Amino acid sequence: MRISETSDVWWKTAVIYCLDVETFMDWNDDGVGDFQGAAERLDYLAELGVTCLWLMPFYPTADRDDGYDITDYYGVDPRFGTAGDFVELVHTARDRGMRVIVDLVVNHTSDRHPWFKASRSSTTSPYRDFYVWRDDEPPDTTKEVVFPDQETSIWEYDEKSAQWYLHRFYRCQPDLNITNPQVRDEIVKVLGYWLELGISGFRVDAVPFMLQTDGVDAAELERFPDPHEYLRSLRSFVGRRTGDGILLGEVNLPHKDQKTFFGGRDGDELTMQFDFIGMQNTYLALARQDARPLVRALQKRPATSRQSQWATFLRNHDELTLDKLSDAERQEVFAAFGPDPAMQLYGRGLRRRLPTMLEGDPRRIRMAYSLMFSLPGTPVLFYGEEIGMGENLDVEGRLAVRTPMQWSDQPNGGFSGARSSRLPRPMVDGAFGPEHVNVAQQRTDPSSLLEFIALLIRRYRESPELGWADFKVLDQPHRHVLAHESAWDDRRIVAVHNLSPESCIVPLHLEGCDRSAHLIDLLQSTQDTSIDDAGRCEVALDGYGYRWLRLGSHTSKRLA
Ligand code: GLC
Repeated sequence: MRISETSDVWWKTAVIYCLDVETFMDWNDDGVGDFQGAAERLDYLAELGVTCLWLMPFYPTADRDDGYDITDYYGVDPRFGTAGDFVELVHTARDRGMRVIVDLVVNHTSDRHPWFKASRSSTTSPYRDFYVWRDDEPPDTTKEVVFPDQETSIWEYDEKSAQWYLHRFYRCQPDLNITNPQVRDEIVKVLGYWLELGISGFRVDAVPFMLQTDGVDAAELERFPDPHEYLRSLRSFVGRRTGDGILLGEVNLPHKDQKTFFGGRDGDELTMQFDFIGMQNTYLALARQDARPLVRALQKRPATSRQSQWATFLRNHDELTLDKLSDAERQEVFAAFGPDPAMQLYGRGLRRRLPTMLEGDPRRIRMAYSLMFSLPGTPVLFYGEEIGMGENLDVEGRLAVRTPMQWSDQPNGGFSGARSSRLPRPMVDGAFGPEHVNVAQQRTDPSSLLEFIALLIRRYRESPELGWADFKVLDQPHRHVLAHESAWDDRRIVAVHNLSPESCIVPLHLEGCDRSAHLIDLLQSTQDTSIDDAGRCEVALDGYGYRWLRLGSHTSKRLA
């Protein structure tokens, strides 16, 4: 395949960076981040090597779920700027070689959305059927609630109309009735609107809930026999309108169920899905210092087609969910990375960032990111990961990891010149606060985490086999080591990661190789590793060591 062809499928090898405009950079010093601030930081992101921004919700909101409770799908929150400022951000990003995708939150609206206000105003409202209502008292649904600290049921009684409405998340987020063709038309218009403003697709919130039709009357269900058909229609709509736009779905389900969300053999539903199972097993592997849970997860992970891709990540904006591990496994991860109940959330997750969980150990943190970037898939970073930000446990719930970006050691970490009481939430303090962890200081330090992440991104981008690869785990004798090979076209990369603090030698057998080949280290300048005529070689690893090794020959044209 020619390199030019791979750029048509840009998302297979993208580097995605998630940011919340509210907490990224405040340009007018009113205390709240804004589009202009984000635009001013695009050069920083381009220099880091990011190729796609994912903007968390920036729409008008009742702000009871940090913007995931939208009151107007066609607007921007005036605190962040205007629609014009949004367009300027997208335009400038494109100029710097970056695409933009935005959150699409259409499982539910805010209860202050005009549709819901109209819907609850009377049982005969034309908008009544935009939401899911029931007459009879709902059964016990305590086990189904997503936020068990706040909710006890997924149904809320509405005094005014004397019926219950469905809400999978908070009660202030009534679920839209996807079986209603009018609702589906409205959703498509929302997609069309933002695509027309120059974005390259959507991060689709809560996809399984969005397609679920439990609670809807049987008669209404006939209007919507196949939810996946609807997902297919959204994908083809995005394709028709943009040519290469994507749907990156949040589907936290076992791998076998995720497979159905990619669609048929051609991959005609979600373009990408976050690999929640791989992520959870990475933490289990890190906690145990044993690569096998991750190996098992990767080996069972369904292969992607040319039309689909896994999005790999270590941390996102929510709690670090461990819900797909067994109870005993989850307790192991809690014990290793968040033993204090104040660090845990909903009994299933941790509200910490990676560096604090790894006690700030630079070797281990780098190994974890090296591992993530070396796995087949498209890496996704959450803002601040590149400098090793921590969390603020004094901030409520999931918001502990959504503190303002730390740009410098100035007041408010250089995020805003406003009084600190006006910030969306307090900065991190202590060892991971802006005095010690910030962009300005790391930019000028070649040994910083920021420079290391930039190196990983450069190498990832130079190595399309990591995005496109046929992937296999290589046999070797150490439990605490993951050795894997990604091969695509005429390229092959071997990556070797040591999850334990003990150094070791890893013997490997590389099929089809002889002494005419050797392994070139892509991350550090060491001597090439030689291979014998039987394809055998030995790779040395420090404690928490990591190596990316490109298979080269003396006649190779590759840079490295
Ligand atoms: C998704 C988001 C989360 C939000 C929820 C409801 O899970 O990631 O932050 O609270 O959907 O929209």
